[in-house]
Amino acid sequence: MICNTSLPDKRATDECLVEALPESYERWRRSRLGRITDALEERLILDLLGPVDGLDVLDLGCGDGDMASRFERLGARVTGLDADPRMLTAARRRAEIESMEFALVLGRVEALPFPDASFDRVVAVTVLCFVRDVDRAIAEMARVLRPGGRVLIGEFGRWSLWAAIRRIRGWLGATTWKSVRFRTARELRALPEAHGLVVHRLRGSIYYPPWERAASLLARFDPRIAQWTTFGAAFIAVTASKPAK
Ligand SMILES: C[S@@+](CC[C@H](N)C(=O)[O-])C[C@H]1O[C@@H](n2cnc3c(N)ncnc32)[C@H](O)[C@@H]1O
Repeated sequence: MICNTSLPDKRATDECLVEALPESYERWRRSRLGRITDALEERLILDLLGPVDGLDVLDLGCGDGDMASRFERLGARVTGLDADPRMLTAARRRAEIESMEFALVLGRVEALPFPDASFDRVVAVTVLCFVRDVDRAIAEMARVLRPGGRVLIGEFGRWSLWAAIRRIRGWLGATTWKSVRFRTARELRALPEAHGLVVHRLRGSIYYPPWERAASLLARFDPRIAQWTTFGAAFIAVTASKPAK
């Protein structure tokens, strides 16, 4: 989720670079811009990931459990992992309200508490941009993935107005955005490839600026623009698979 609300600030520690309170997420999801944008993002994720029915899915940096809940409704057995206990509390609350049964684990992407080859799908949406040791995180994602399984990495696109505004907020002192790393499509593709994963598809979404009126007017053109370029996309996702032995 490329949440556009102003997040409350806090001193960053090496432990957790993102300060994303569940209330900010709720505000975002209630807004019209949030609803339009989340719908496009979700459509891209589900399209690239393919059917998840009957599969073991790991949602890294699961936040308040929105995607985890979606995967479970689609028939997956879902585990959500997040470094922030407050996000896990929000995800647990969501699971209760929606009568879902996904497992929730406190942990870090760089040191996953799961045995090798545990999952068919490993998803990391707007989380790696906050992770310092991204190589270690991808190595962990590849390790817990079963041969033939697939990862999906979704990130802020570097060449978008959404990223530019966050970069400026970082320069002005907003802790969440100070150390964030926005990647280009080429850099995103290189991440899984560097760990022996085979890239299948890469696509952008959300080409409008982060304003409600722009979203209302322009969201319908999104899929058409995505056929041509990832330049300007606020969200870029890539899928890659682990070669079967
Ligand atoms: C921008 S939110 C995205 C949440 C969710 N993936 C979504 O798209 O709605 C980033 C999430 O990653 C979590 N996070 C940040 N660094 C992490 C790390 N090193 N390991 C695990 N989770 C982390 C944060 O606590 C936060 O919930």
